[in-house]
Amino acid sequence: MKKPYVFITRKLSEQIVSSLKEKYDVNMWEHESTPVPRETLLNEVKKATALITMLSEKIDEELLEAGRNLQVVANLAVGYDNIDVQAATKKGIAICNTPDVLTDTTADLTFALLMATARRIIEAAEVVKKGEWKSWSPFLLAGHDIHHKTIGIVGMGSIGEAVAKRAKGFDMNILYHNRSRKPEAEKSLGAKYCSFEDLIQQADFIVCLTPLTPDTKKLFNREAFNKMKKSAIFINASRGPVVDEKALYEALVEGEIAAAGLDVFETEPIGADHPLLSLQNVVALPHIGSATRETREAMMQLCVENVDRVLSGKSPKTLVNKAWEKQKV
Ligand code: DGY
Repeated sequence: MKKPYVFITRKLSEQIVSSLKEKYDVNMWEHESTPVPRETLLNEVKKATALITMLSEKIDEELLEAGRNLQVVANLAVGYDNIDVQAATKKGIAICNTPDVLTDTTADLTFALLMATARRIIEAAEVVKKGEWKSWSPFLLAGHDIHHKTIGIVGMGSIGEAVAKRAKGFDMNILYHNRSRKPEAEKSLGAKYCSFEDLIQQADFIVCLTPLTPDTKKLFNREAFNKMKKSAIFINASRGPVVDEKALYEALVEGEIAAAGLDVFETEPIGADHPLLSLQNVVALPHIGSATRETREAMMQLCVENVDRVLSGKSPKTLVNKAWEKQKV
């Protein structure tokens, strides 16, 4: 019998690929740092029963339409704004993501970025490496305190809660804004729910962890930055388009806020000539929120499990389009 065809859009670990090859006919885009060209993906999807995709691929209606035999798309990310979920549901295709396994790792990176930005760690390390450290001095690379300050978390999902847990360890006052209240986090972490307006006005650290949706696109615009404290530090570890980058640049240049730590950008990879990268008070990372060996392996494993489950007629572990399940019954 012909084995189902699985296409993987980026080089994954040998162990993962071997385990897939036991059951499926597998093909993979072998390059680690360049995304699969759209045309190749469009050709591959015509043969595919399952796709394992990265957030760099646009899984839109045209692509799903071309996937005549496609049953499941397993996205190697918790975010799935790269996928037209509605179109997939209409076509009876299961969409899966990788929540939970990356929660603590992404929270670690978010907090590390907050600390690096507040304490000017990247700048400081550069000074030493370039031989520019002349002597100890009272104001040399003086940054901002983190402990006992107010953190405002916008988007209190699992990662938001894990960041709040870390903030509690730093004796921070924790504010959050979310679509729904989180009574458990309020009780165990002392997190206080507040409106978006109140949060951006009161917080010393504004941490963006909200998913990208039509409602959150450019949520952080000029008006929002203007309302923040002049000493505020803005951290984004969710998706770039949640921020109006031009407005952020202006806010930083005009001293409306103090600094920004960014792991994500409107266009990725961000060009080296992007104005934001010319600013000393910006710490920029190449979207590495969940990038540890252990977590990336766990994410890959979860993708494989989801593919296996759908192709053997079961419900996937982490299904995005719950309506798919109802259609199946
Ligand atoms: C995700 O999982 O959505 C992250 O952004 C990838 O690291």
